[in-house]
Amino acid sequence: MRIKYTISIVFFVALVIIEKENNIISRVSDKLTLRQTPLPPLEPMVSSRGLLKHNGSYAVLGGQLDLSFAPAKRRLENHTQRRLVRSGGRKHILLLSTTRSGSSFMGEFFNQQSDNMFYLFEPLWHVEKMLTLETGGVNATAANWVYPELLRQLFLCDFSLLERFIEPAPVAHVTADLFRRSSSSSLCEKSVCSPTVKGVFEHHSCKNRRCGPLNLTLASESCLQKEHRAIKLVRVRQLQTLRLLAEEPRLDIRFIQLVRDPRAVLASRMVAFAAKYKNWKRWAEEGDVPIDDVEVSKLKGNCNNFRMSAELGLKQPAWLRRRYMLVRYEDIARFPLQKAAEMYSFAGIPFTPQVKAWILSNTQASKETSGIYSTQKKSSEQVEKWRFNVPFKIVQVVQKVCGSTLKLFGYKFVSSEEMLTDKSISLIEDKVFNFM
Ligand SMILES: *[C@@H]1O[C@H](CO)[C@@H](O)[C@H](O)[C@H]1NC(C)=O
Ligand SMILES: *[C@@H]1O[C@H](CO)[C@@H](O)[C@H](O)[C@H]1NC(C)=O
Ligand SMILES: *[C@@H]1O[C@H](CO)[C@@H](O)[C@H](O)[C@H]1NC(C)=O
Ligand SMILES: *[C@@H]1O[C@H](CO)[C@@H](O)[C@H](O)[C@H]1NC(C)=O
Repeated sequence: MRIKYTISIVFFVALVIIEKENNIISRVSDKLTLRQTPLPPLEPMVSSRGLLKHNGSYAVLGGQLDLSFAPAKRRLENHTQRRLVRSGGRKHILLLSTTRSGSSFMGEFFNQQSDNMFYLFEPLWHVEKMLTLETGGVNATAANWVYPELLRQLFLCDFSLLERFIEPAPVAHVTADLFRRSSSSSLCEKSVCSPTVKGVFEHHSCKNRRCGPLNLTLASESCLQKEHRAIKLVRVRQLQTLRLLAEEPRLDIRFIQLVRDPRAVLASRMVAFAAKYKNWKRWAEEGDVPIDDVEVSKLKGNCNNFRMSAELGLKQPAWLRRRYMLVRYEDIARFPLQKAAEMYSFAGIPFTPQVKAWILSNTQASKETSGIYSTQKKSSEQVEKWRFNVPFKIVQVVQKVCGSTLKLFGYKFVSSEEMLTDKSISLIEDKVFNFM
């Protein structure tokens, strides 16, 4: 008992002294940062092998430290943040969404700018796979620690923690099994493209050139050279769990949350994931939806998570100030150029002709700018096509369990079968998301 008190008092006194002595604090915080920093990101010339030598046990230790000394560490970091801008103008963009919400399309807005952007597509896929329990759910305790920590390391171009989740385990930092490597132009660049190896089959091989298994040391080196970094995710449920990223002084993070009408998401999933959504399909075809079914409460949980993340973002707590943007898929689909430009402006990165050209050739945007009413109407119709693919009773269930989510994001409720399929009524309200 006495020892405990003594330790607390000593710790408290130490903090007081540290607070008073600015010199000490800067030295302490620099040491702390250095110890945690395998490589200062401002020196991209240093070989990334130094970075990779810190393996999982180091990372795990770092995580435990995080927990036990969180308040003191946060103070030091806060101080560090004010004294040293370590990101050096580099921006780190996290695109957050759920499946079937158009996140791959939005990701392309950043993937297309490959000359100064390092882009990763769903790196958490490997982690989710390993943390999936027998019940089918994900071990949330483990995920809540691993997800933010892994993202922090990836934004710093360190792949060592990710390596521990790739199966089979990479050999000498080389793997043929990185999920959707081909969706990241950064991982298919010439500098990251090793010669092919006879007899080794790559599941997600590059489309633009023939590459052998991915050498993560090369990927890390390429990442360090890029001006900005972006990661796209559909696997994080709560923005709150990513606070660590906003507080990491070496990152200048921007969260962009993409949302879509939950009724449209469900309609799309029923087609795309037919096996997983077979109950919904059955309910759509016959009988009533059992409102207390586990599938329905899952839907409700998803809606709530997304709404709560958005509410947090729009409330702008100090750690999220100027770091959060909410975007609706329906707006991106209808006004891709305008929305992409807004996202770049929010991120603080110049919008390049390269990205603009991609959007123009992959969407109807060329007509968007000329303001032809019929074209705009046509793309709206495309976005709302789901209304003809899902019965009214399913829509009613979604409205019932996701009502506050619909309201927050500006999606109009339908009150009848006729209204659902009435093309003259759009269910997308014009909405500007003001911070609350
Ligand atoms: C981490 O590296 C140390 C020494 O470099 C080694 O002893 C240890 O087994 C490694 N741990 C893992 C999990 O790879
Ligand atoms: C960080 O410093 C700012 C400015 O002094 C202060 O307002 C804020 O409360 C501090 N945050 C934490 C977590 O200590
Ligand atoms: C979830 O992960 C934690 C931390 O790694 C572990 O202690 C716990 O046993 C796991 N829970 C289950 C049900 O596997
Ligand atoms: C991966 O790239 C690094 C850096 O160029 C190189 O040293 C290493 O030998 C490569 N690994 C393999 C297995 O080719």
